[in-house]
Amino acid sequence: MAVSSIRVAIDGYSSTGKSTLAKALANRLGFLYVDTGAMYRAVALYLIENGLTLDQLTGVLDQIKVDFDPDQQIRLNGRVVASEIRHMEVNQIVSQVAKISEVRKKLVEQQQGFTQSVVMDGRDIGTVVFPDAQLKIFMTAKPEVRAQRRFAELQVTHPEVAFEEVLENLKMRDFEDENRSVDPLKKAEDAMVLDNSDLSPEEQLNWVITQLQDRNLV
Ligand code: DC
Repeated sequence: MAVSSIRVAIDGYSSTGKSTLAKALANRLGFLYVDTGAMYRAVALYLIENGLTLDQLTGVLDQIKVDFDPDQQIRLNGRVVASEIRHMEVNQIVSQVAKISEVRKKLVEQQQGFTQSVVMDGRDIGTVVFPDAQLKIFMTAKPEVRAQRRFAELQVTHPEVAFEEVLENLKMRDFEDENRSVDPLKKAEDAMVLDNSDLSPEEQLNWVITQLQDRNLV
């Protein structure tokens, strides 16, 4: 079968800058960018807005439509919710929502429906969504470096949060991502590891472009 579209899968730990890299790469290549974490967050937002429990979610999944507008802004039932999905309440519940196998099944099927050239970031893109992706990247960085990045972002909205709290929360999320029974975070065997503890965004982008060139994909 001739390769008509190119898929780049970017997985890895939280706060490693996956979406920054994925967006920049999609921009450079003219590919679609899909933030799958935003899709899980939109489902979590639906649960919060409708006062549902986690147990009730499976029963209402067909009432939840998550998609992207032409500017790639995440929508929940037709409404752009790009800022709402970043709220603290969503952060607190989203990893529980992402554990529900029916939720994963629905969103994975939708993600597999993107047939054009795409850069997709998440936790299970190279292992589950696109096991045949032409390039798989697994991003990591030292926990202290990732916590420092997250801490700097949080200073704007939650200046009261201490660095140690951010670090602990990050380690807890790593544990949950790696240990859930459905589609846990795991490096695909054929993924290239990118440890960006000491790399600038530009250096990371150049590294990925080199990987693509080495494979004659661009
Ligand atoms: O990348 P993020 O923080 O926006 O992801 C939000 C949550 O969704 C996080 O708990 C991990 C989970 N997630 C997932 O399980 N599978 C994906 N493909 C993307 C995100």
